[in-house]
Amino acid sequence: MKVLIVGSGGREHAIAWSVSQSKRVDKIYCAPGNGGISEIAECVSIAAMEFDKLADFAQDNEIDLTIIGMDDPLVGGIVDVFEERGLKVFGPRKNAAIIEGSKSFSKDLMKKYNIPTCHYETFTSPEEALLYLENAEFPIVLKADGLALGKGVLICNNLEEAEAGVTTIMLDKQFGAAGDTIVIEDFITGQEASVLCFCDGTHIKPMTSAQDHKRAKDGDQGLNTGGMGTFSPSPFYTEEIQKFCEENIYQATMDAMKAEGRDFIGILFVGLMLTEQGPRVLEYNARFGDPEAQVVLPRMKNDILDVIDACIDGKLDTIDLEFEDNAAVCVVLASDGYPEHYERGKLITGLEKFDGKDGYYAFHAGTKKTDKGIVTNGGRVIGITAKGATLKEARANAYKATEWVEFDNKYMRSDIGKAIDKIDEMKE
Ligand code: GLY
Repeated sequence: MKVLIVGSGGREHAIAWSVSQSKRVDKIYCAPGNGGISEIAECVSIAAMEFDKLADFAQDNEIDLTIIGMDDPLVGGIVDVFEERGLKVFGPRKNAAIIEGSKSFSKDLMKKYNIPTCHYETFTSPEEALLYLENAEFPIVLKADGLALGKGVLICNNLEEAEAGVTTIMLDKQFGAAGDTIVIEDFITGQEASVLCFCDGTHIKPMTSAQDHKRAKDGDQGLNTGGMGTFSPSPFYTEEIQKFCEENIYQATMDAMKAEGRDFIGILFVGLMLTEQGPRVLEYNARFGDPEAQVVLPRMKNDILDVIDACIDGKLDTIDLEFEDNAAVCVVLASDGYPEHYERGKLITGLEKFDGKDGYYAFHAGTKKTDKGIVTNGGRVIGITAKGATLKEARANAYKATEWVEFDNKYMRSDIGKAIDKIDEMKE
């Protein structure tokens, strides 16, 4: 079987690795891919938004299955283009990917179908948004409606910050057209959990849980990033919480999308806040999380191609998803200065230390293969993932493995998985 993966990040490397473990795969392509993916797949120089070129490639090379990793092409309708040409593709169609593409759509969906989330209001006029904020309670959360590389969410501690946020999003258009509409929602607290789910339009199967670290600096300080590290499973996502989510969130979302004529086939990423009042949906995404995929997929026992086939064929109910009874932690090595300004082109050394070492992975994000070797080519450079029997062991293993890799402006958070220690504190 020939498989094409669309995307170029650590998530796509983790997907490519997972596909490479399948007995059914003969050849993997990735467009456009990156330096690390090129070790296990043939990278094709077509950008993720060049839908016709990608479909031409799939047709000309008799690709049996295309997996779309990234949000932009999904929201832009790449799946519809492939399906119109009779090409087998995994991901939600445009009318379903809107669940990630528009925050006001997803909030309205949750309200209409009683899916637990926090209170919100939507505005298309900056004047009306500012008027609403005058009587709001702080902190408060401002979200640009559309896709903004994970950066369109601002937490504002007072009216002054919120007014500046409205200006940034709606008037200065820092996130482009994504800021034409703004969602203003209540600030809620608790442990966050990311649950990625396989979906076939009718059935939904949640994978093991994970927890992301979105801020750039230790102690959850600094700017929002795509994610600086993850651990899986989340010890805060108990069986009781999982049961609640299965009954009130996952299937309810599937049913809601179906009722709206937007059957969701693909990966639904449910971002949860585990509040004292119970789980609340913070956001939906229409694809694997990054770096969540880097800790979830290495723990999955199933052949990913079997599960994807079952999703496409509407037979997900025949699959038992199984995960290893262990833990994994991913620490992202970034270029110092990310997510703002940073240098590229730094030579990366030590990657050979991962070869064949069981339970250790270097999932590349911003890297490029050059004549002198693999060099940095982005803000998030490599996700270092390690497994362990427990979360603490996995965390120690992951941090040990971060020392194997060097490049000039290497930066990482030193507190990925700190929340794991809270479990012990809670027991004391
Ligand atoms: N790690 C968050 C995301 O993938 O959106």
